[in-house]
Amino acid sequence: MKVSAIASLFGKEVLVGIDVGSSSLKAIQVEPTRDGFRVVRAAQQKTPPGAIRDGVVHDRDAVAGAIRQMIKAANITANAAVIAVSGPTVFVRQIQLPKMPDAALKRSIPYEAGRFISSNVDDSAIAYEVLGAAADDPNLLDVMLVAAPKEMVDSRVNVVERAGLDVVSTDIESFALIRSLIDTQYARYNDGQLRAIVDVGAGHTEVTILLGTKFQLTRAVSIAGDTFTDALKNQLRLDTPEAEQRKTELDLNVLIHGSDNPGDYEAPRALQSVMDELLREVRRSVVFYQSNLPEGTPAQNVVEVILAGGSAQMMGLAPYVTARLGLEARVGDPFENPAIEAAPEAMQWLRSQSPRLGCALGLAAKDFMVPQNAIK
Ligand SMILES: Nc1ncnc2c1ncn2[C@@H]1O[C@H](COP(=O)(O)OP(=O)(O)OP(=O)(O)O)[C@@H](O)[C@H]1O
Ligand SMILES: [Mg+2]
Repeated sequence: MKVSAIASLFGKEVLVGIDVGSSSLKAIQVEPTRDGFRVVRAAQQKTPPGAIRDGVVHDRDAVAGAIRQMIKAANITANAAVIAVSGPTVFVRQIQLPKMPDAALKRSIPYEAGRFISSNVDDSAIAYEVLGAAADDPNLLDVMLVAAPKEMVDSRVNVVERAGLDVVSTDIESFALIRSLIDTQYARYNDGQLRAIVDVGAGHTEVTILLGTKFQLTRAVSIAGDTFTDALKNQLRLDTPEAEQRKTELDLNVLIHGSDNPGDYEAPRALQSVMDELLREVRRSVVFYQSNLPEGTPAQNVVEVILAGGSAQMMGLAPYVTARLGLEARVGDPFENPAIEAAPEAMQWLRSQSPRLGCALGLAAKDFMVPQNAIK
C-alpha cells in the first residue's frame, strides 16, 4: 500500500482493473487520452473451478496463481489494482441522514449499517460516500452506504496482492459497470429515463436500476450461467463440459420464432423455465423500485434493458428478454464508443468479449472518471 501511495505522488502508479469472477478472471489496463481512454492491456483467464463460491475466494493459492499467470501472459505493467465485490451478501443503498460534521457522520455509519445488514457489523467491511444535500430537504444528506462481508473483501484483496499488485481500491461491480456502460456516454443517458443493467454472470445475476445516469438500486439474483448449465446437464443428461458447449450453441430465438429443425428446440427448452424465472426476478426488481418511490413520484417504465456479463453472449438472449418482458433489450458494448480506443487487433478481441469485460474496464477507469467529468 505505502509504496504505491508514494509512487502516485510522482505519477508512477499505473492501475489495472481486475474482475475476480467465479467463472473467469478479467484484467484491463487503460491510460487516459484527450477525449477518453485507451485500453493498453486486457486479459481473461479461467477461474480455477470451485475456487470462488458466493463471492469468497476459498482456494486462495489457486486463484492468486491464475491472476499472476494472467498478468504475466498479458504483459500487464500496472503495479496497483482496483477490484470489486458483488452478490447477495453485498449491501448497497442510498440513505438519508441528518446533516452533521464529518466525524459524527463517520461514527454513526456502523450503527446505520447495522440497521440494514443481517450479519454482524464487525464481520462487515463498511464504506460510505456523501453525495450531497438531499434534494427535498437541505437538512438531510444523501449518503451511499455500502457493506460487504469482510471475508469476501479480504479474500479478494489477498489473492490480487499475492499476485504482486497493490489493491488501492475496492469497488462495487455494478458501479464499475455503470462507469463503463453509462458514464462513458453520459450525454446519451442523461435523460432521466429508467433503465436496467442486467449483468448475467456465472454464479449470480446483478440487476441495477438507473434513472438517467443515476444509480437507484442493485439487487442480486442467484440464477445465472451456472444455473443454465445445470439445467442442460440435468435435462439432457450431459456432463459439465458438454453442457457448457451446448450453451454456446443454442439460440433462444427458437422459442420466439420457432425452427424447422426439431433438434433446435431441445436445449432452449431445457433452460426455459430457469430463464423465465430469472426474467421474473428482473421484473420484480423493477416493481420493487417503483413501489418504494416516495409518495407522489410518478412511476416510470423501464425504457431499456442493457445486458452484460458472459451469459449475455447467449444467442438470442436480448430478443427473448424483449419477448418475455415487453421491454427493449440489447447487449451493452462499452467499446462501441469512439472515446474508448485500442489497437485495431486488440479492439476486435475486446468487442468479441465485451459483455464480460465491462466490469474490469469500469474498475480500470475509476481513477480518472467520475460522473461529473465523464466522457461526453
Ligand atoms: N456464448 C455463450 N453463451 C452462453 N453462455 C456463455 C457464453 N459465453 C460465456 N457464457 C457463460 O458466461 C458465464 C461467465 O460469465 P462472466 O465471466 O461474466 O462470469 P463471472 O464474472 O466469472 O461470474 P460471477 O460474476 O457470477 O462470479 C459462464 O456461465 C459461461 O458459461
Ligand atoms: Mg462477474
